Amino acid sequence: MEKSISSEATNDGNANGGGRIQQLLHEAERGRETVLSSRFFVELRLGTLHRRRWLWQLLHWSGMFTRALSTRSGLGREDRFSDVFAEHASEEARHPGQLKSLMRKSGFGPVEEGWTLDHPATRQTEKLAGVVKRVAAMGSSLEQVMVLNALGEGCALDFYQAVLTHFGPRELRGPYFHVHAEVDDRHRLLGVDLLAEPVQWEYQACRGTLRGAAESFKAMLDSWATYELDLPKEEAGWSPPSSETR
Ligand SMILES: [Fe+2]
Repeated sequence: MEKSISSEATNDGNANGGGRIQQLLHEAERGRETVLSSRFFVELRLGTLHRRRWLWQLLHWSGMFTRALSTRSGLGREDRFSDVFAEHASEEARHPGQLKSLMRKSGFGPVEEGWTLDHPATRQTEKLAGVVKRVAAMGSSLEQVMVLNALGEGCALDFYQAVLTHFGPRELRGPYFHVHAEVDDRHRLLGVDLLAEPVQWEYQACRGTLRGAAESFKAMLDSWATYELDLPKEEAGWSPPSSETR
């Protein structure tokens, strides 16, 4: 991980000096480290990760995360967050379409209605989608910022930087990966400066939610490295070198 989120956060809080918020930001950092230990990143480093299969899961996850952000913005539970939550939701809204465009141009075949039947989300991807949906709809603003921004966007930053570095901008062409690598560093801190210092039980509840979400993130990325399905023949247009195909 290149830099510390907690050293950049500017929430000064009250007499506790924002101590609990800083601790939660540290917890989000630990969560990112947990996620970075997933099998996806291990196999990426070893060069044994299947070169294309995970993109279908990323397409599922991209839509699920975007919908969670829209839900959070649409429900608008606290006025002071409405601008940053709306900004975040609108900046993510085009990403699933950008990823579809990349996949279409890269020979993945149709990614229109019905593709989910041929390429279902893994159980672990669905589980994390449930976690972020619940946080977006029913979590406190503290949980929403910590899970969806500090952890979720922190993990996204790690993910996009890792795959771009590994596969290169020529293979992962188009705006989708490059936009993420540029903006997720800003997205992960959106709303942090608007948080009020939590009381003890709010802090503990948020810490538990963060830990659970980090484990679900890791499980999801583990599953992206291991799930099995028959790749459709039309993907042959983007064949990797045989040494990198499992
Ligand atoms: Fe983002």
